[in-house]
Amino acid sequence: MIVFLKNLKRRLEAALLRMKARREASRGFAYDKAQFLAHAGALHLDRKAAACAEIVMGYHVLEKGLTMPRRRLGFGKGAVLHLMNLIDSFERRFGTDEPPVRHAVSVLRAYRELHRDWPEPMKRLDAFLAARPDVPSALEPHVTREEFFSAKDAPFPAFAASRHVCRHFAGPIPRETLDAALALASTAPSACNRQHARVHVIDDPSLRERLFALQGGTRGFGADADKALVVTADLSAVRWGWERHDAYVNGGIFVMNLCYALHYHGIAHCILHWSVEPATDREAHRLLGIPENEAIAQVLACGMPPEEFDVAASPRRAPEEIVTWHGGTGK
Ligand SMILES: Cc1cc2nc3c(=O)[nH]c(=O)nc-3n(C[C@H](O)[C@H](O)[C@H](O)COP(=O)(O)O)c2cc1C
Repeated sequence: MIVFLKNLKRRLEAALLRMKARREASRGFAYDKAQFLAHAGALHLDRKAAACAEIVMGYHVLEKGLTMPRRRLGFGKGAVLHLMNLIDSFERRFGTDEPPVRHAVSVLRAYRELHRDWPEPMKRLDAFLAARPDVPSALEPHVTREEFFSAKDAPFPAFAASRHVCRHFAGPIPRETLDAALALASTAPSACNRQHARVHVIDDPSLRERLFALQGGTRGFGADADKALVVTADLSAVRWGWERHDAYVNGGIFVMNLCYALHYHGIAHCILHWSVEPATDREAHRLLGIPENEAIAQVLACGMPPEEFDVAASPRRAPEEIVTWHGGTGK
């Protein structure tokens, strides 16, 4: 009788914990949804920060184009027009002193300089640039492989500044080099050391091609990659409802460490978003045989880089633009 009551108590407690986690998750996701609908840039393009982010996306497309392997002149005419319209509209509403907007103009100038011998006139672009004579051309570095990885053993500030995505791949990654990078990546921290992250190495070219087709962000370079890495996070390691973001938080931290580890081992990598609709996510799980309890956090394309290549500059905001001190200034 006592054993029966003890078992019953345990089962009741477990059921109550499950109910609690379900309630927390429902409330948490409802809160996220309300916050997303109220503030996500996609729904509020009229706001300054959202308009600025749209311009960054617009110039990034061109910056990628400027540094892509097998770049063909005349690319991205629609993107140039779209970006000029976005900048015109932004400057009319919010002024001209936003650093990412100035960088967008400098990318347009780099595009024009690349097309200095282009036979067709670019009247609108020329007038646009002539009206902003103080903005110099963006510098998209051209580097040798040795230069790209030269800070491998440098102190962390130089090493971190040297890491960039690379969309140029020229050869297979030696197995032991990838193993060493993956082992190094596992030094990433995780909540209560639960180590949610898992890595699926996609070596089969046809699987990789189908994965990249589902992902949609590798046009012009994905076919050259030697491997795709799919970083997932095991939802089984999530212990209560309020941890609803933990798969992506822990997965994201792992991905950053993985990027540094790949760079340290001389492997070129390009991070790829996994912002896809549910049917695509399900299709990727099915295609790659990823267990359903693993949430896909991120995909990476990687390979050994060629002897020399272009890198997108991707300038960063200054610290004072992103840091807010609360309760003092530390001085
Ligand atoms: C979450 C995330 C998603 C990304 N998705 C893509 C992508 O789909 N295609 C791509 O070419 N680059 C992608 N990138 C690479 C970014 O464009 C790149 O990291 C950014 O411009 C900063 O440049 P850097 O990594 O060279 O410093 C992604 C990066 C992150 C962090």
